Amino acid sequence: MLHDIYGNALSTRSPEAQAAFDLALRQIRTLHGDPIATLDAALDHDPRFGLAWITRAIVLAQVTDRMFEGEIARSLREAHACRLDAREQAHAGAARSWAEGRFREGAMAFARISREAPRDLLAVQNAHVGCFFIGAQFELRDIPLAALRASRVGEEGHHALLGMAAFGLEECGDYAAAEAFGLEAVELELEDAWATHAVAHVYEMRGEVAIGRDWLEDTAGGWSEDCGFAYHNWWHLALLHLDAQNPQAALKLYDERVRPRDSANVVLEMLDASALLWRLHLDGVDTGDRFTRLARVWEEKIEDGILAFNDLHAIMAFLGAGRRDLAERTLQSMRRAANGAGDNAMMTHDVGLALADGFLAFDAKRHAEAVDRLAPVRAIAQRFGGSHAQRDVISLTLLHAAINGGMRSTAEALAAERLAHKPQSPWANRLAVAAKTAGATASTK
Ligand SMILES: [Fe+2]
Repeated sequence: MLHDIYGNALSTRSPEAQAAFDLALRQIRTLHGDPIATLDAALDHDPRFGLAWITRAIVLAQVTDRMFEGEIARSLREAHACRLDAREQAHAGAARSWAEGRFREGAMAFARISREAPRDLLAVQNAHVGCFFIGAQFELRDIPLAALRASRVGEEGHHALLGMAAFGLEECGDYAAAEAFGLEAVELELEDAWATHAVAHVYEMRGEVAIGRDWLEDTAGGWSEDCGFAYHNWWHLALLHLDAQNPQAALKLYDERVRPRDSANVVLEMLDASALLWRLHLDGVDTGDRFTRLARVWEEKIEDGILAFNDLHAIMAFLGAGRRDLAERTLQSMRRAANGAGDNAMMTHDVGLALADGFLAFDAKRHAEAVDRLAPVRAIAQRFGGSHAQRDVISLTLLHAAINGGMRSTAEALAAERLAHKPQSPWANRLAVAAKTAGATASTK
């Protein structure tokens, strides 16, 4: 019987297929290379290798793009026709739940596998990533921490468990432990882009601008080449430039690293592009025609209805481009999604629609309405997924609405909160000053 690099039994008898699958596992855990091409190579050697089909399905599903719906369904159908052992069957069930939009069920099914087989790092990672998408912060932390009981330094993938734990700890606010776990992970594996990213989050949340910039620039050799996550780590560096009040450096990174190709339609990259441009827009920075170029690609996704989180980022691009018509169309699509099936219905109903309304109100300079819409839902916004750093765009928009609308006490409260978290951030300090004069020059309330 063949086993994967982590020691789990595999239902393939082809050593060539197993070797390719092992390479895919390494690529998946460091976010490098093209795991789909590698899984396809495994399947060329053994077309009845069920776990390779299942893994292909879940990797594509995590891209959160309707474009892959057909390929995901085909992969799951192929897997269904293969002989699977109990662990592989559990993977198939979890992947199917996830692919059909039952995200919590899918993530928890992967978590169950990881409890029973803590050396199944693929299950740990799928559970961890799943918890990220559903905003399950404690599980994001605890699933990799639990799996560490079966891992030691020197064993395959130990760094990845440390890196996942680091990110979970960071999202739970335990920054010191997150930093320690993340630094150890990157020490073990410089190419662990997720672990590097977890440490970057720590510096982002603390507003440690200089140390964060140094961290990302010094480790870039490990994650910037042939890495499907590089744009996101560059995005984090751009956020640090914004905190340092260096918008031109952020724009340069946007053009060269975050969004180098206008035609690229990778949703996760488009999210970061929207989020960065929107922050610049809030700060009054001229972003040229970048919103317009980005909106063209988002327009293809208006009817996707996969995640409200994505829809909100599409709306940012449309509003920034002056295309309220497309923003309104997205809102219509979201209303349909709120009445649909799967977890995105709740995400859209509970969080996404109020945020979308708030952003549209902000764009229309109905600032008081924007504050009324955004402030209450901010408290539960983790239900529609993403990280604290990503969802900070909600707090920033809320704060700018309060400043622009002359709501001084609200603005001061929000600015004080920000400054308490990021005392060293020049941006937070400047916003605190702006909040004190909110109302003095406001023209619209
Ligand atoms: Fe991040």
